[in-house]
Amino acid sequence: MTADPLLLTTAIEAVVRAGEIQLAHLGSDIRVDKKGTIDLVTEVDVAIERTFRDLVAGRFPDHQVLGEEMGGSAVPPKGACWVFDPIDGTTNYAHGLPIFCASLALEMDGTAELGAVYDPTRRELFTAERGGGAFLNGRPIHVSPAETLVDAMLVTGFPYDVHARVAEIVGLFGEFVGRARAVRRLGSAALDLCYVAAGRLDGFWENDLKPWDIAAGSLIVAEAGGRVTGLHGEPFTSRQGHVLATNDRIHQAMLDVIGRFRRSRSTVD
Ligand code: IPD
Ligand code: CA
Ligand code: CA
Repeated sequence: MTADPLLLTTAIEAVVRAGEIQLAHLGSDIRVDKKGTIDLVTEVDVAIERTFRDLVAGRFPDHQVLGEEMGGSAVPPKGACWVFDPIDGTTNYAHGLPIFCASLALEMDGTAELGAVYDPTRRELFTAERGGGAFLNGRPIHVSPAETLVDAMLVTGFPYDVHARVAEIVGLFGEFVGRARAVRRLGSAALDLCYVAAGRLDGFWENDLKPWDIAAGSLIVAEAGGRVTGLHGEPFTSRQGHVLATNDRIHQAMLDVIGRFRRSRSTVD
């Protein structure tokens, strides 16, 4: 656990403040720009990240920040680095769909030591410190007991280059649809991870994610008793861009489905 209690206090303050700003502008006439064909950014994303950077600069001037809208070091820097997504679920947010959050991790030498994710529409605050368990609004949370895919509810997301990769992405989606109780696509990777941590969902997979999407949520899953790896079972790092996060019990079954799907595609490509 982090030695300085001000670190977790700051993380909570930052994501709750972000949530207040999100709610204050939800459904209003905000400016929406395109970073890519279907990759949006609103003026609220930018305003929240600016507020957060001011907070860190005032309180921890030697800490670095990696944020979605204003960037930062592409490789994990030495020392403390805050990894921040001002709105995870920007497409939902821009459409007025209330499934979004703010996500914040503190990495030390590239390893997440604490994470905080806040969903202001449900007033749900997910937190974890390495070695200290995971919490929802201060109460401990744990992953689900589901043992098999047929008893599991899974979740995934689609990358912003999905138009160029529909067969691959929907193909793997179909493999899980054909084996699981249900598969969801909510539009916020950080909440997907927190819902695995809270036992509401049993497994989450996604390709082409960014550190700010997954740094906090992955720690929260691990601290809730789950397992987090890359999509092929590699040790997880927030920079590798793909993640499989489960209740542990169904992890190998999901790895098997992903591995078989990958092998079947490599014989046709
Ligand atoms: C996106 C969301 C979405 C996931 C995308 C992410 P953003 O983040 O987490 O669920 O499928 O890959 O980029 O753009 O809303 O911050
Ligand atoms: Ca995101
Ligand atoms: Ca975002």
